[in-house]
Amino acid sequence: MNYALIGCGRIAVNHVKAVDNNGLNFVAACDIVPEQIDILFQKQPPKNAQAIARYTDYKQMLAEHPEIELVAIATPSGIHAEIALYCIDHGVNVIIEKPMAMCMADADEIIRRSEKKGVTVCACHQNRFNVAVQKTRKALEEGRFGRLSHGSVHVRWNRNRGYYDQAPWRGTWKDDGGCLMNQCIHGIDLLRWMMGDEVDSIYGVTRQQFHDYLEAEDVGLAVVTFKNGAVATIEGTTNVYPKNLEETLYLFGETGTVKLGGAATNNIDVWNFADETEADQANKGLTEHASNVYGNGHTSLYADVIDAVKNHRKPYVDAVAGRNALEMVLGIYASMKSGAPVKLPLSDFASLDMQGTF
Ligand SMILES: NC(=O)c1ccc[n+]([C@@H]2O[C@H](COP(=O)([O-])OP(=O)(O)OC[C@H]3O[C@@H](n4cnc5c(N)ncnc54)[C@H](O)[C@@H]3O)[C@@H](O)[C@H]2O)c1
Repeated sequence: MNYALIGCGRIAVNHVKAVDNNGLNFVAACDIVPEQIDILFQKQPPKNAQAIARYTDYKQMLAEHPEIELVAIATPSGIHAEIALYCIDHGVNVIIEKPMAMCMADADEIIRRSEKKGVTVCACHQNRFNVAVQKTRKALEEGRFGRLSHGSVHVRWNRNRGYYDQAPWRGTWKDDGGCLMNQCIHGIDLLRWMMGDEVDSIYGVTRQQFHDYLEAEDVGLAVVTFKNGAVATIEGTTNVYPKNLEETLYLFGETGTVKLGGAATNNIDVWNFADETEADQANKGLTEHASNVYGNGHTSLYADVIDAVKNHRKPYVDAVAGRNALEMVLGIYASMKSGAPVKLPLSDFASLDMQGTF
């Protein structure tokens, strides 16, 4: 399958690995800063680097390479939707880095136009493929938790001035949002997906405590009520001194308790089920090694997307999943703005609506 990458910064390393691990034909790479492509290929040399065409304009790239079937968008978040819609309109399948968009209207438009055009869209929530997450999801689908009581996600990370100084788009309402939109959206995606997807309401409080050189929040807390009666809390921050502490997901059911831990929900810290068998012993204390907090999931996510395109099925993490995770974050933002719980579905709200909050 013919592939191109748009945006060749930090996360692009994981994309190049996934491309080679899946045997994609890497046709072209695009970045508005051409040196970024050199830096990326030095950090993570692709198999056929010499044969990969280089562009600074993705529209020109697609025009000159109509053979491209799949594109990954790893640019700053504020332009994900614009690029995705262009690819969709040109019949190109897309993997969109998280967050899929920065407002509900764009997310809904991506779903609408991709369905109309028959184009596959995947939201890059790769942590769904973590071994620990997959095992938990399987237990959930088998009904081993019984009725869910509550759950919680805790993303307690550190992002310092050096991190934010790497690029001017970071921490802006237009192009990034704060810790909830950038760092915590994976955990928030997992929580919603596991707890039943159908959210009734969300109440959130956010603050900018230490990062006064940013526009957006550096800590956010929320209470979520689900239509199935379960409830959950969210805590996300980039304020933890002196380094990343944990990304932890708790699920409490009538007959099951699971705590996923590690830096990015890659370990099983607690695995208790009423119907425990010998096979459960292997899950207790399971750890999956990853070279960074982005984990190993990109390779599995790409494998799934390639299969989805070939077999004309929806990918495991589809555009609706990307929309739903975005809706949770924007719901917290909207609640912060109004001071009251917000009912979902959120008709429209944009990260930019938060301008001037802090
Ligand atoms: N899935 C994950 O775990 C994960 C992890 C990190 C980042 N991300 C997401 O990936 C995206 C990129 O993050 P990053 O940390 O790699 O950022 P980055 O700033 O390191 O890289 C972004 C790159 O996009 C390029 N770019 C900007 N506008 C462009 C355009 N119009 N066309 C082509 N290239 C363009 C920039 O020059 C830069 O090289 C963000 O949306 C971020 O939220 C996801």
